[in-house]
Amino acid sequence: MVNFDYCTPTRLVFGKGVIEKLPAIMSPLGKKILLVYGGGSIKKTGLYDKVLELLSDFEIFELSGVEPNPKYESVVEGAKICRENNVDAVLAVGGGSVLDCSKSIAAGAKYDGDPWDLITYKVPTTSALPIVDIMTLSATGSEYDANSVISRMDLNIKTCLKSDHIFPTCSILDPTYTFTVSKRQTAAGAADAISHVFEKYFTSPTTDLNDGMCEAVIKSIMKNVKVALENPCDYDARAELMVDCALACNNIIALGNGASGWVAHAIEHALSAYYDITHGEGLAIITPHWMRKILSEKTADRFVKYGVNIWGIDPGLDSFEIANKAIDKTYEFFRSLGIPMTLGEVGIDDAKINEMANDIAGDGKLKNCYAPLSVEDVAEILRNSL
Ligand code: NZQ
Ligand code: ZN
Repeated sequence: MVNFDYCTPTRLVFGKGVIEKLPAIMSPLGKKILLVYGGGSIKKTGLYDKVLELLSDFEIFELSGVEPNPKYESVVEGAKICRENNVDAVLAVGGGSVLDCSKSIAAGAKYDGDPWDLITYKVPTTSALPIVDIMTLSATGSEYDANSVISRMDLNIKTCLKSDHIFPTCSILDPTYTFTVSKRQTAAGAADAISHVFEKYFTSPTTDLNDGMCEAVIKSIMKNVKVALENPCDYDARAELMVDCALACNNIIALGNGASGWVAHAIEHALSAYYDITHGEGLAIITPHWMRKILSEKTADRFVKYGVNIWGIDPGLDSFEIANKAIDKTYEFFRSLGIPMTLGEVGIDDAKINEMANDIAGDGKLKNCYAPLSVEDVAEILRNSL
């Protein structure tokens, strides 16, 4: 078990109707609020009107049109609105993209220069406006972590600002707001959250406690995503998915585990940076090929545990047979959710594989991971995913 220093200062307010607490949650933070949202789903569902009604005593500024894989331009625009109007707090209403954008806005609002300096760690983030979110999609876990993933398509960079200053002050989690999420985004969100657990589970050392928690989260997502796809308004399934996703990206289920290097995510972020694909779909496509590539004498024990405990594979079989069956089942599971399982199906061909592999693993970037990969290894994973 390795040393850790853990703190998640975010208050989670969960359940049907908890939005009524919004005015009380926002009041201590100030009167001037930047409301950030995406392409309009919150207007269709009525959530936008509800928020404005509840915050009628506040002065509301708005930033709309935040795209999936949030773009840097929205961060600049939001930070400018905050600075020009002395905004007190940022309220994100939407999915992970809206919240991630809001986090970088909150940091950028407190910095006089270009927010890109903060996102790329040229300048340390030393403060941020308070952030509150109302989540409408279960996926990223941004509601319970300190990450803000921002894309610059002009540079083919999708990168993550991680700072204790951008933990949300409060996350409002009402599962009923996720009833309208499409089948496609529901499946992609589940794949993303499962991948967050894989990034914690396929490493060394781990503990019995962490393995058990990780396996429980994976099983819960696998079961409940099927129910939610069948019946999008099943409250209990949506509720469990919402909590699963919040926990999956938080280190609470992996305290004391060794770092893995988050390799599947490193690969997917390059795919999104070049092709703007849906994050969870990119992960589902890459994951079985990444698993196959890292399967070795060193890693086989992890795959055996995964195969036996998640998939019920006979523990008496040869360890590599268990591992390969488990990887096959992982692929079949993602496919059964309706996820496109080849890069070709999401519009990616082999044209930029070498360039992306170099961005991902060049300069030995993945050499200190649990299962180190070279540029050639990553290019092979990408080619196998075509
Ligand atoms: O923009 P609107 O109109 O709101 O529509 C969104 C968007 O088109 C829609 N949607 C959201 N809630 C809905 C809904 N549609 C109907 N009903 C609802 N209730 O869903 C679409 C996708 O939304 P998005 O926010 O992009 O999805 P997600 O939550 O999966 O976020 C993905 C982003 O988060 C990053 C990803 O890389 C990607 O940029 N990640 C953030 C992480 C973090 N902060 O810790 C970790 C992850 O590994 C990930 O990298
Ligand atoms: Zn992810």
